[in-house]
Amino acid sequence: MTVTPVTVRVPAKVNLQLAVGPLRADGYHELVTVFHAVSLFDEVTVRPADRTSVRVSGTDAAAVPAGRANLAVRAAAALARAARPRGASSAVAIEIRKRIPVAAGLAGGSADAAAALVACNELWQAGLSAAELSAVAAGVGSDVAFALLGGTAVGRGRGEQLTVALAAGTYHWVLAFSPGGLSTPEVYAACDRLRAARAVGVAAGPGRARPPGLGAALGASPVASSAGGRAVDPVAGSSGGEGAAGVPEPRLSTELMVALRSADPAAVGPLLSNDLQPAALSLRPELRRTLSAGRELGAIGAMVSGSGPTCAFLAADARHARDLAVSLTGAGVCRGVAGCHGPVHGATVIPAGEHG
Ligand code: C5P
Repeated sequence: MTVTPVTVRVPAKVNLQLAVGPLRADGYHELVTVFHAVSLFDEVTVRPADRTSVRVSGTDAAAVPAGRANLAVRAAAALARAARPRGASSAVAIEIRKRIPVAAGLAGGSADAAAALVACNELWQAGLSAAELSAVAAGVGSDVAFALLGGTAVGRGRGEQLTVALAAGTYHWVLAFSPGGLSTPEVYAACDRLRAARAVGVAAGPGRARPPGLGAALGASPVASSAGGRAVDPVAGSSGGEGAAGVPEPRLSTELMVALRSADPAAVGPLLSNDLQPAALSLRPELRRTLSAGRELGAIGAMVSGSGPTCAFLAADARHARDLAVSLTGAGVCRGVAGCHGPVHGATVIPAGEHG
């Protein structure tokens, strides 16, 4: 019997808000985040094989792990455990065509995992519902469930507990890519260090100098310091009730949610916020130049995407995004740019013959 391969298209994400709360006992941070899927897509094809393999082509292909470390392979294995009858073969050849850069703060690995889940569910006719797939996704990585869902959604917990957000309109973005990636655990660890250093500074009382190096991190952009549209300390992050170790519980920005319903990028732009931005900037100080260049060139919102190092700029409309992309390229502050829009659908099977 010939089985037709299954191809799935899956989007990158940016976080319109990323409020990072206290470190939990399991090593993750309690989050409140607003995910937003954008039209920069990877494609993943699966077909039955004698043994599982993965082949990667496109952007940053050499940086994507092969074998069991690959998130798409792990996702296929997790789905096989959840849904494959005992004794049935679950070996698949996985082919990933990447446009989403690796370790860029755009959840490219999670996207490939989500695509593999949808593709294998189809290939094996496993029949898992969206909710069942989402449960498997949460076990593979914190952002995988969102890559299944797409659109605009609020994530809580590790980011895997999702609620669809009421967002209107289409938002046009320019993504500015950096040379080299950033490791997500390292960015969270830097965030913890900055917070600990700040706590020491606060405990030492007024007039005491902050620890060396902290000043630069504190000079975070207005974006980082505007969670929820209220002034908050860029290191402490979003305001809310105090959690463990004095770190506030993360709080959803109601101002952002209202702005998203207005379909007005000018209302959304100033409310973008990312508690990981000071940490990403402490590890990559040169990103400050990228963010400033975007703002000077007229972006109506500017932020580091997720754990970085990609910078995301919100434009007024499609034409403004094209102009901004050209100017940013000319400014020489990044390794490349991509224009995209959101929200877009999550991982979707592409009819045979339509993929490229
Ligand atoms: O779940 P995922 O593998 O995508 O997370 C990668 C890493 O990011 C985790 O191992 C953890 O260090 C960090 N992380 C975190 N808190 C979260 C999500 C991720 O500390 N809510």
